[in-house]
Amino acid sequence: MVEAQLHDFPSLFSLEGKVAVVTGGSRGLGLSAASALLQAGASKVFISSRKAAACDAACKALNALPNLRPGAQAISVPADGATLEGVKHLLAQVSAQTDHVDILLANAGATWGEKFDTHPDSAFAKVMDLNVRGVFNLIREFAPLLQKRASVEDPSRVVITSSVAGLGVGTLGKQGTYGYSASKAAVLHLGRNLAVELGPRGITVNSICPGFFPSKMSNGLLDMAGGAEKLAKANPMRRLGRGEDIAGAVVFLTSRAGAHVNGAAIEIDGGALWQKGELHLKL
Ligand SMILES: NC(=O)c1ccc[n+]([C@@H]2O[C@H](COP(=O)([O-])OP(=O)(O)OC[C@H]3O[C@@H](n4cnc5c(N)ncnc54)[C@H](OP(=O)(O)O)[C@@H]3O)[C@@H](O)[C@H]2O)c1
Repeated sequence: MVEAQLHDFPSLFSLEGKVAVVTGGSRGLGLSAASALLQAGASKVFISSRKAAACDAACKALNALPNLRPGAQAISVPADGATLEGVKHLLAQVSAQTDHVDILLANAGATWGEKFDTHPDSAFAKVMDLNVRGVFNLIREFAPLLQKRASVEDPSRVVITSSVAGLGVGTLGKQGTYGYSASKAAVLHLGRNLAVELGPRGITVNSICPGFFPSKMSNGLLDMAGGAEKLAKANPMRRLGRGEDIAGAVVFLTSRAGAHVNGAAIEIDGGALWQKGELHLKL
């Protein structure tokens, strides 16, 4: 049996028939991930964000993809991930349409940039509420649905979108992202705790740590830092992140290929994080 599985490479990255929920799935990284899940064979992908029209538009685009399995569908489930009420509303909407969930992408996130001296309490709280507390509430509330079909052999998956800002220091100065950076470090460690807690229930919990990906959230900062071209040049791989970079990591973590990866944090930043320690010596 085990030997046969080793030779079953064509299905190693398949998500045939899987049911997924993607928060922050209406645009940006979440939409790229949702597109990948569907094209890898998922039968249902629930797309959630606050704005119903944005979720509907994303689902329309996803459902028009040319290479989906027969019957595969993206389903719009608007909800506010920052409040427990919103998370419970999301769970109720999803539960009305499926009796189980195989994959949960806790991807919705918010940021705030302002200098240290005036960095407001309300912004810090807002960022923490969605990026940390909201993620914990989401995973806890969805655990029963994730457990329904989960086994150690074929685990259900949680993937948290953290950031390299949670591994290194975030943006400082005029547009300081103190709360954001702290929230991404916190959610990474939350992921490690939950990996150990939920592993025996047949649920893996991993994090991805993207670097700079042009998106609605990052574009302002990109411009202030001198633009996409300048930042791309400074990256060891001489480019910024793309949708495909997220797609590949998410399909790996949610398919059989990633079944034994638990509590991990995968950096997707072209190696830029490690440049921060560089001494910039020109020898
Ligand atoms: N882009 C980057 O360079 C980068 C780097 C590292 C990490 N990340 C992380 O990647 C994730 C996605 O960010 P992105 O760059 O793709 O940004 P984005 O394009 O701005 O997307 C953010 C998504 O989250 C949703 N959202 C925001 N607040 C929400 C709330 N309270 N409840 C539910 N959904 C909410 C947004 O939709 P609505 O407005 O309709 O709610 C949208 O779908 C975030 O966790 C972010 O921190 C991004």
